[in-house]
Amino acid sequence: MVGDVVDRCPTGIVGFDRLCGGGFVRNSDNLVIGGPGSGKSTFLLQFLYNGATKYAENGLYCSFEPDIVDTLNDAQNHGWDFSRLSEEGKISFMRFAPQTSIDDLKKELTTMISKNNVRRICFDPISVLALGLSDQGKIRQTIFDLSALMKRMRVTTLFVDESLENDGMTRIVDGDWTKTDILTFLSDSVTILYDSGIAGVGDRAVRITKMRRTAHERKAIGFSIKDSGIEVYGVGATRG
Ligand SMILES: Nc1ncnc2c1ncn2[C@@H]1O[C@H](COP(=O)(O)OP(=O)(O)OP(=O)(O)O)[C@@H](O)[C@H]1O
Ligand SMILES: [Mg+2]
Repeated sequence: MVGDVVDRCPTGIVGFDRLCGGGFVRNSDNLVIGGPGSGKSTFLLQFLYNGATKYAENGLYCSFEPDIVDTLNDAQNHGWDFSRLSEEGKISFMRFAPQTSIDDLKKELTTMISKNNVRRICFDPISVLALGLSDQGKIRQTIFDLSALMKRMRVTTLFVDESLENDGMTRIVDGDWTKTDILTFLSDSVTILYDSGIAGVGDRAVRITKMRRTAHERKAIGFSIKDSGIEVYGVGATRG
């Protein structure tokens, strides 16, 4: 983009990078929200895989799920050979128990990021970290600490947050904010993945609701998940 001096961290998902001036802002923290099966983990894995294979940037995938075998099998189905990248030290996987303290988390992350020269990091899903925390203040502080550490270490961060409503926006439960809604205010960007699940694969859409320092597309744009991964359609293009 002419005149854009902001350093970008491309996802390598061409149609997505086009929506936001070439990708996420380097060293920023970014939120990816969506309902079950909306493609959150696929987006993250594709971001890391492209980082390692196209942009020579090492990645770290942090999971709070019981095990990440399913996730890796899914990736394998898309032809993304994470076992090879892992052997080569380009991508690492860490699994944290939900009750892991923020101090332990920060210590382990710091070690791993330095040791493996990590430039891209994903937390899937970050909401698990909030489960053990009693109030919004503590959640805010924890996420803020984590984001600040990632920025100091010059890493581009993607946080996944789940939305039950599957449209990513109807998040108010009984008139109250859900525990991790605060993230939408703290994060440098918010990307919502929609899947109405009513009329098949063409139903999927992505919308960037916020990206600091970026003149981004504001409309929801259709995408599909194929064998090769996520493919975002061109702005104004018809669904394929
Ligand atoms: N090869 C493929 N072709 C088409 N669609 C696929 C393919 N592989 C996966 N999918 C779709 O991707 C969806 C899974 O996406 P993903 O696991 O990234 O979602 P998620 O948002 O992380 O879900 P969860 O909330 O359960 O973690 C599946 O439900 C399926 O519809
Ligand atoms: Mg997932």
